[in-house]
Parts: sequence; C-alpha cells; structure tokens
Amino acid sequence: MFNEARFIKSVFKLDDLPKDNIPEIILCGRSNVGKSSFINSILNRKNLAKTSSTPGKTRSINYYLIDNKFYFVDLPGFGYAKASKKERELWGKLIEDYLQKSKNIILSLHFIDGRHKPAELDLMLSKFMLRTGISYIVVLTKSDKLNQSEIHSAKKNIIDEIPGLIHKENLFIYSAVTQFGKKDMLKILSKHVGK
Ligand code: GTP
Ligand code: MG
Repeated sequence: MFNEARFIKSVFKLDDLPKDNIPEIILCGRSNVGKSSFINSILNRKNLAKTSSTPGKTRSINYYLIDNKFYFVDLPGFGYAKASKKERELWGKLIEDYLQKSKNIILSLHFIDGRHKPAELDLMLSKFMLRTGISYIVVLTKSDKLNQSEIHSAKKNIIDEIPGLIHKENLFIYSAVTQFGKKDMLKILSKHVGK
C-alpha cells in the first residue's frame, strides 16, 4: 500500500527532466487504454492524474512522486489518430529521447486494452522494452468490460504475441473501475520498489 502521492511536474522537453536520481516506474501504451486511470486507482486518488474518454489526454511526461521513494512516470499514449502528424512526431521523439536518456527506470508497465489485440505499435514497444533489459510487465486493462471467457482469450492472445509473458509474473489483468487485480499489482509494484 502506498501512502503519499504528489504530482511533481509535466515535462514537455528533455531539458526539464528531473535531475534527481529517484527510481522511475513508467506507464506506457496506446492512448486511452487507462494509464492515467491506473495511477488514480492504484493510489486511491480520484483526480491525481487527469483522465479523459477522449484519447490523447496526456500529452507530456508527468511525474508523480510516491512516498518520497519512486516516481510513477505517466507517458503520453501513442497511436492517437486525431493528433496532427507534427504533434505525433514531437511526442514520439520526446518519449524516445526520454527512454534513451533516463538512467532511473526500474520498471516499465505496458498497458493494453484487454478488449483488443495488441496493435503493431504495441508489438514494437514490447520488442523495444525487452531489448533494454528493464523489467517489463504487461497490464491488460478494462477487464470489467470482459467476461471470464473473454479474459481467458485476451490472456492467451497476448501470451501468443509477446514472448515470455507469464500470468501473475509479468502479465496482469486490471480494472480501474472494479479494482480487479489491484492486490496483485500492489504486490508486484512493492516488490520492485523494495517495500
Ligand atoms: P492517454 O492519456 O490519452 O494516453 O490515455 P490513458 O491511457 O491515460 O487513458 P485514461 O486513463 O485517460 O482512460 C481513458 C478512458 O478509459 C477514460 O474514459 C477512462 O474512464 C476509461 N477507463 C480507464 N480505465 C478503465 C477501466 O479499467 N475500465 C473501464 N470500463 N474504463 C476505463
Ligand atoms: Mg493519460
């Protein structure tokens, strides 16, 4: 269980990344899959991270300091069709540069909407993350929208597409609405931050 969570800042350009060496847990994935909602739900906070039913809500790299111990880093979602090409390129570049530059990432959480098969960009992201050697976890979101057999198929699909995923080790099912999967997520996060 985490106690204290504070929004620290939104970063739009690399120069503004925090200069401290606090460990970072990053949240990445397509737009609208529930990254910001996850932050609120796991921390029991209603509106700490801004969420929206309109894709493309998070457009900067947002830092939340948890228990003075680690950051949740909420990244802008990719694959947001309505953004202009220029805007998409800018975010893409910001995220890419950040991933290359940051030395403090201890865990990468890749969020995928459980109702959909992983997109091409998801597969690219997973390949990229697996190559970096940073601990990598896939979270299938919005499980409240799925019945048991659909959850089963979603798990099977993702295991078929991304190598090395094992349920409850580096693959988790979550719902920010019902809080399904919260206990398991808290456990794995605590393990990574050494709590
Ligand atoms: P970007 O900031 O655009 O990258 O999106 P995001 O991944 O941060 O998604 P966000 O948390 O803003 O959620 C997008 C929409 O999905 C919102 O309308 C949320 O209420 C909804 N949502 C998020 N998580 C869940 C969930 O577990 N279940 C359901 N049913 N809806 C969810
Ligand atoms: Mg967001």
